[in-house]
Amino acid sequence: MKKLRLAVLISGRGSNLQALIDACKMPDFPAEIVAVISNRPDALGLERASEAGISAMIVDSDYFKSDKAGFEDSLIRTLEGFGADLICLAGFMKILSSRFLDHFKDRVINIHPSLLPKHKGLNTHERALKAGDKTHGCSVHVVTPGMDEGEIILQRALDILPDDTADSLALRVLELEHEAYVQAVRHIAQNDVIIHNGQVVWGQVNAFEGIRAAQPRQTPSHTNSQDNNNHQNDNHPMTMENAMSQTNNKATPEAEEESRNMWVYFTKLSTYAAAAAIAILVFLALFVA
Ligand code: GRF
Repeated sequence: MKKLRLAVLISGRGSNLQALIDACKMPDFPAEIVAVISNRPDALGLERASEAGISAMIVDSDYFKSDKAGFEDSLIRTLEGFGADLICLAGFMKILSSRFLDHFKDRVINIHPSLLPKHKGLNTHERALKAGDKTHGCSVHVVTPGMDEGEIILQRALDILPDDTADSLALRVLELEHEAYVQAVRHIAQNDVIIHNGQVVWGQVNAFEGIRAAQPRQTPSHTNSQDNNNHQNDNHPMTMENAMSQTNNKATPEAEEESRNMWVYFTKLSTYAAAAAIAILVFLALFVA
């Protein structure tokens, strides 16, 4: 099984990174982490990566000071060196520019500790409590230059309890984050969902161009009742027609190859049939007449 190659970008603790590391250890998980990159040398996540035997790199944002382009160029070069298919931000505390995101178009996702579009930015648990929200949770979303603004891939929700504090909420939401991020990566790796021009499209088959098109399709497991997914897409998967109108409809190399093979087979079959017909006619002409 060819696995989706992940690069994980971190700035600190790396518990979401750890969840991805653990998932990737499962033989049937359709993705592998090829690199962990931190913009901070003291990130605990770097240790998690090296303990797991994963290449861990530092692209120190402090070194570049206000040279954001220089920092991102260095990040791009490092990521290119690892041939990552998908870039997972996991507590990465830098806003990425459209130049960077155009370079890795439709290939950068993030985990955020709130039910977006509610509570973008920091201190989401305090803000959920202060707003008197009844539910809270996390979102995996496509990364755009606007902070926490990209299309939602999936969400997980929980009920806020009367005695919840920001800390207790943070802990409970973090558990959901770990599940949600692993699940989102699995769905992307299996082409259950594709990101196309920043849009999230569920219910694709391999005839469409995804991040990777060669995986055997498995039954999506995003129907969990706790899975507060983008309901429109989740409960009413897009029809093929809708999906085609939103995607390139470009055949995969595998589909093109298959079509070529079919054509060769058809041509051979026609030649044999014609030869057999001529042989029968000759036989009839010689022996029956
Ligand atoms: C998580 O809450 C994540 O949602 C947010 O930053 C935190 C990172 O935690 N973007 P960790 O480093 O993955 O433990």
